[in-house]
Amino acid sequence: MWSFIRATVLTFSLASTCIASHSDSHKRDINSLRARNIISDGSDLQSSYDFIIVGGGLAGLVLASRLSEDTNHTVLVLEAGESGDANITQINTPADTYYSSLVGSEYDYAYQTAAQTGCSNRNVPWPRGKVLGGSSAINGMYLVVPNEQEVNALHAIMNDTDEFWTWDSYYAAMKKSETFGAPSAAVAAEAGIQFNAASYGSSGPIHYSYPGETFGLVGNWTPSLLTLGVPTNADSGSGDNTGAYITTSAINPSNWTRSYSRSGYIDPLPPRSNLDILTSATVTNIVWKSGTSGNLTATGVQWASSSTAAPQTVNANKEVILAAGAIGSAQVLQLSGVGPSKYLQAAGVDVQLNLPGVGQRLQDHLSASLIYNTNAETAGAEENTGDTSAKFLSFINSATAYVNLTTLLGSADATALISSAQAAVSSSASTLLPLGDPTVAAGYEAISNTITNQFYSANVGQIELLLSITSTVVVLQAAIQHPLSVGELYITSNSVFNYPFLNPNYLVHSADLTILREGLKMARSVSQASPISSFLTGETVPGSSVSTDAQWNTWLEGAVGTEFHPTGTCAMLPLELGGVVSPSMLVYGTSNVRVADASVYPFEFSSHLGAPTYGLAEQAATIIRDFWNGVSVNPNSTSTSAAPATTSPSSVKSSSNGALHSIVSVGGFICAAIACLAGSILL
Ligand SMILES: Cc1cc2nc3c(=O)[nH]c(=O)nc-3n(C[C@H](O)[C@H](O)[C@H](O)COP(=O)(O)OP(=O)(O)OC[C@H]3O[C@@H](n4cnc5c(N)ncnc54)[C@H](O)[C@@H]3O)c2cc1C
Ligand SMILES: *[C@@H]1O[C@H](CO)[C@@H](O)[C@H](O)[C@H]1NC(C)=O
Ligand SMILES: *[C@@H]1O[C@H](CO)[C@@H](O)[C@H](O)[C@H]1NC(C)=O
Ligand SMILES: *[C@@H]1O[C@H](CO)[C@@H](O)[C@H](O)[C@H]1NC(C)=O
Ligand SMILES: *[C@@H]1O[C@H](CO)[C@@H](O)[C@H](O)[C@H]1NC(C)=O
Ligand SMILES: *[C@@H]1O[C@H](CO)[C@@H](O)[C@H](O)[C@H]1NC(C)=O
Ligand SMILES: *[C@@H]1O[C@H](CO)[C@@H](O)[C@H](O)[C@H]1NC(C)=O
Ligand SMILES: *[C@@H]1O[C@H](CO)[C@@H](O)[C@H](O)[C@H]1NC(C)=O
Repeated sequence: MWSFIRATVLTFSLASTCIASHSDSHKRDINSLRARNIISDGSDLQSSYDFIIVGGGLAGLVLASRLSEDTNHTVLVLEAGESGDANITQINTPADTYYSSLVGSEYDYAYQTAAQTGCSNRNVPWPRGKVLGGSSAINGMYLVVPNEQEVNALHAIMNDTDEFWTWDSYYAAMKKSETFGAPSAAVAAEAGIQFNAASYGSSGPIHYSYPGETFGLVGNWTPSLLTLGVPTNADSGSGDNTGAYITTSAINPSNWTRSYSRSGYIDPLPPRSNLDILTSATVTNIVWKSGTSGNLTATGVQWASSSTAAPQTVNANKEVILAAGAIGSAQVLQLSGVGPSKYLQAAGVDVQLNLPGVGQRLQDHLSASLIYNTNAETAGAEENTGDTSAKFLSFINSATAYVNLTTLLGSADATALISSAQAAVSSSASTLLPLGDPTVAAGYEAISNTITNQFYSANVGQIELLLSITSTVVVLQAAIQHPLSVGELYITSNSVFNYPFLNPNYLVHSADLTILREGLKMARSVSQASPISSFLTGETVPGSSVSTDAQWNTWLEGAVGTEFHPTGTCAMLPLELGGVVSPSMLVYGTSNVRVADASVYPFEFSSHLGAPTYGLAEQAATIIRDFWNGVSVNPNSTSTSAAPATTSPSSVKSSSNGALHSIVSVGGFICAAIACLAGSILL
């Protein structure tokens, strides 16, 4: 979650900061541009690789790093965006995510949803990273471990006999990605940070840490929530992520830089002759073996450096792995003829396989913000003084609270909401899903039952509350965690360069509206709770004219925006529930195409999606390596994965080309104040 402000004053301050930038204090070091295995010239590619990874984002670079650790395999990553080196300071500096954001820049797809009937018919902006590291290079760096009950529900709904996705094995995979770093004693005391280091990993590539500087307002967070019945969670990374706490952030405490998939998983690698990463390479489609019956087999992919460049082909000896994100992976599958045939035909794509679930179940966390004037020190005010110290610029928002339904509504209203939502499950399945596919409807029912029968009545967060002080005002946000509204994504042309139609159907289910409204009321209650109340000097948004339910509804429909967590478009679910991938992430009906990124969650977790997606990609890499090496992944599992005997340990192609380590040169582009502005006025 990244915070933004719509206030005019702040918009101007963001724009001017953008132009000035912090480059003086973070001089670009040409040596840091040394880009391991990153190539910019497609003519340096081999003609084939064992694994082709589509998308070098958060998950894609985890896969690239782990799969190429195994010298039995050669690996290629094709990433649509640039390396990021031209703007590496903005990527590396945590607080630049607010003061000099890359949202709205060339590194952002800047998608927009279709007009949302539940949100005053607005087209809601949907930023997504288009750069090496993907959205992990431009995101808000919150790291929240999901709830154990949600993960076990995923395991249960999938008939996951290999136990890849039980809490125990998924939690172990998440820990593989983590190195925990404790806050300084002074920061911990001022911000009220409590933690249990043992709940995190200690030798993984991504730093789970805290800013080097903080503010007294942050220390008011957990005591204020406590007065509202939300307990302080001193161990939020252990499977119970409910309650109020200061969560970990993706910050490397050794130099206060952003820790993201490129800096964690790729930059520290020694040279690897079995790994190539090509930037500015957009995959247009998967190439299928022709003339075979049964499962589709990918022989490779086509990619292009721009919409006008001729597509080129590169072959996959073993697998194509889609890691193009919640929008890109479903888009590429559909462009390759795999998806709902109705939509593919309308877009002029030959249907290879009618797989209705591709692009269905599109959903998101959505949030709105209350704004308060303050007499306390904020990070935004300090930024205006021109503080460019690395410690100050490591301060990012991380105070959060996950509130369950009974605390949010009180038990009588919670019970009433649960029964009305349960009663509406099958009628919602028939009204909310325009595709009209019975498997997708069955999946909708199964997951709605999981949410309404389990999550609503358990100690699982339904609302996330957040505190933002990175402007000169205080922002309190509320975000719904398990929407019953779902929508769809589909291509409207046969070109990857045309954005797909994106409709998350925000707030079309009345339970979502109720939960979000009550969450916003609770955010207002936080503003009135001691001790934070004594530092807030008036609510400017929405203000006192909004107090009845009807007024809240009207206001929030005009004010909500994305919490940046779209998912569901390549759902990991049984085929008969409209699923797209199996527990081993293989696309149904294909023999060698997997999806391993944030598109596979069939329902949202009560967490930001970065932390679980590092674990998901770690687990996927283990599954894939063990499959091809012919070993059983989970010693507890009864089934073993029999690897096709096509692997030759000597299949590593040594690159004769020294240019594999060449530095990417990226043409200068202009951080127009307009681009920064665009970034600052989202939501
Ligand atoms: C502004 C913003 C703020 C966020 N804040 C947070 C936060 O604070 N905490 C958190 O946990 N999560 C946050 N998120 C969400 C989190 O970053 C994403 O959920 C996560 O990065 C998803 O990982 P991914 O690998 O699925 O996709 P991505 O990281 O988005 O990577 C997908 C990659 O695939 C590439 N690609 C797409 N199509 C193609 C193609 N056809 N050919 C080649 N390459 C392609 C893209 O360019 C991109 O690099 C935020 C996201 C955004 C956008
Ligand atoms: C390569 O594969 C063999 C089995 O085919 C396996 O034993 C070995 O561990 C693999 N190598 C690596 C580095 O994983
Ligand atoms: C899950 O497995 C059980 C037992 O094998 C089976 O009865 C059930 O139909 C499966 N469910 C789904 C959704 O595939
Ligand atoms: C295997 O089972 C044991 C005992 O139930 C459990 O502690 C362990 O976490 C399991 N291992 C995996 C990888 O799931
Ligand atoms: C930050 O420190 C890490 C070592 O922990 C180093 O690898 C990385 O290059 C540094 N980043 C910058 C931008 O200096
Ligand atoms: C298709 O692939 C799946 C998964 O590997 C496999 O179980 C199934 O038997 C295959 N079907 C055919 C017809 O080859
Ligand atoms: C919700 O949270 C409160 C506070 O921790 C707790 O007392 C209550 O039991 C929780 N509700 C459920 C259903 O677990
Ligand atoms: C990216 O870097 C270029 C070259 O240094 C610079 O001109 C531009 O302003 C930067 N872009 C953004 C969005 O800041």
